[in-house]
Amino acid sequence: MQQPLTLGIAGLGTVGASLIQLLLQHKDRLEERAGRPVRIGGVSARHKGKDRGVELSDVPWFDDPVRLATDPGIEVLVELIGGSDGVAKAAVEAALGAGKHVVTANKALLAEHGIALAQLAEERNVALNFEAAVAGGIPVIKTLRESLSANEVHRVYGILNGTCNYILTTMTEEQRSFDDVLKEAQARGYAEADPTFDVGGFDTAHKLAILTSLAFGTKVAFDEIDVEGIQLITQADIEAADDMGYRIKLLGVALRAESGIEARVHPAMVPKHSAIAEVSGATNGVAIDADFCGSLLLVGPGAGGPATASAVASDILDIARGSVMAPFVTHTRNLKPYKKAKLGAHQGAYYVRFSVYDRPGAMGAIAKRMGDREVSIESIVQRRPRSALPGIGARLAPGAPAPVVMITHETTEESIRQAIDAIERDGKVSERPQVIRIEKL
Ligand SMILES: NC(=O)c1ccc[n+]([C@@H]2O[C@H](COP(=O)([O-])OP(=O)(O)OC[C@H]3O[C@@H](n4cnc5c(N)ncnc54)[C@H](OP(=O)(O)O)[C@@H]3O)[C@@H](O)[C@H]2O)c1
Repeated sequence: MQQPLTLGIAGLGTVGASLIQLLLQHKDRLEERAGRPVRIGGVSARHKGKDRGVELSDVPWFDDPVRLATDPGIEVLVELIGGSDGVAKAAVEAALGAGKHVVTANKALLAEHGIALAQLAEERNVALNFEAAVAGGIPVIKTLRESLSANEVHRVYGILNGTCNYILTTMTEEQRSFDDVLKEAQARGYAEADPTFDVGGFDTAHKLAILTSLAFGTKVAFDEIDVEGIQLITQADIEAADDMGYRIKLLGVALRAESGIEARVHPAMVPKHSAIAEVSGATNGVAIDADFCGSLLLVGPGAGGPATASAVASDILDIARGSVMAPFVTHTRNLKPYKKAKLGAHQGAYYVRFSVYDRPGAMGAIAKRMGDREVSIESIVQRRPRSALPGIGARLAPGAPAPVVMITHETTEESIRQAIDAIERDGKVSERPQVIRIEKL
């Protein structure tokens, strides 16, 4: 009989408890596929007595995850605590330092310290596997690390945060405001009490930082990503997008541009009938454009205990089968420094929503400022929100700002930003115009 693979599981929350359920339920299947039994040699969490819906009375308990990580009986540390620093980092470093394999679902840790940890894993010739860290159950890490490793990737983009996608989808389908939908999502447990990390785009940026490195063979550079959240998206934008054939999605996008890698997280307009626009609710979707393979779209559950545990378990199986790969596709010594492309050079079309004072010459002045920066306009419409009542209630009071929506032809980020700044300075608009990039698909 083959020696069992012994796991130390640190973190018994949503993902940890589901993983234990999976390991128990599929014990025989895993043994058959791994060619050896997979055994839980120890667990660690904060509260020993907590009911986690799984039977753990026979499993050795460790108060300290670092002690679990270095326990001689453990071959693989499965880190499911979370957080970029603190005990999760300490446990992973301790395990790698002691020559043990690591499986983690911790995107924050990898986005901030991925390269240093990968170097440690390479020095010890052990695995650092993190399929669950990006898009939960969707096998996007293996797709980039293995299936597409012979391709040159041109672009990777996607919907990487279920909370944001749920909010935007509900705003679209139920014509409700951001604040209203967010409150409901919090009440139902879909959004954190402090939602900044999700709705501000930072969670998406963590995942995009990892994907960018895998796709382009560069060092992970979370700090170099331009990040905007969805907090300022209004029902007026959702309605205007719908009328013009678009949906608004929070996208993480990374591509090779002339001056380097362009990596950005922001709300984007995507054509209503594109495959990515159809990814709705809490579902995630990741698209990859590669030279020989062409375009792929992977869609599925980006979070949740069972789906995430499925990804963690596949990483454990790889180790049980003896597979140890460079964590970031190639040895870290071959990774190129991250060269950030200038966002000002980004080329694309834009949606702009103005609140224009009802004064003679206001529209002419706006058009002139656009013309000065060589931004050409594809369409311009004055729109009233659908929610406005018909009749007198729908009329604008004399002199009140009128909502005007403009779509530009392809231009540069620098040109549109300069034009918008000049329009604001002219005093023809009552608030900062809303600018949303239209993603070329
Ligand atoms: N949830 C998802 O859908 C999902 C999807 C993809 C990736 N992930 C990632 O998976 C990881 C775990 O997420 P989760 O949702 O399962 O988190 P969670 O439900 O909050 O669970 C965290 C676990 O870590 C334990 N813990 C916290 N501090 C500890 C400490 N100092 N020492 C020992 N144990 C400690 C907690 O112990 P107690 O239970 O005793 O408090 C808990 O069991 C995170 O990196 C997350 O980003 C989660």
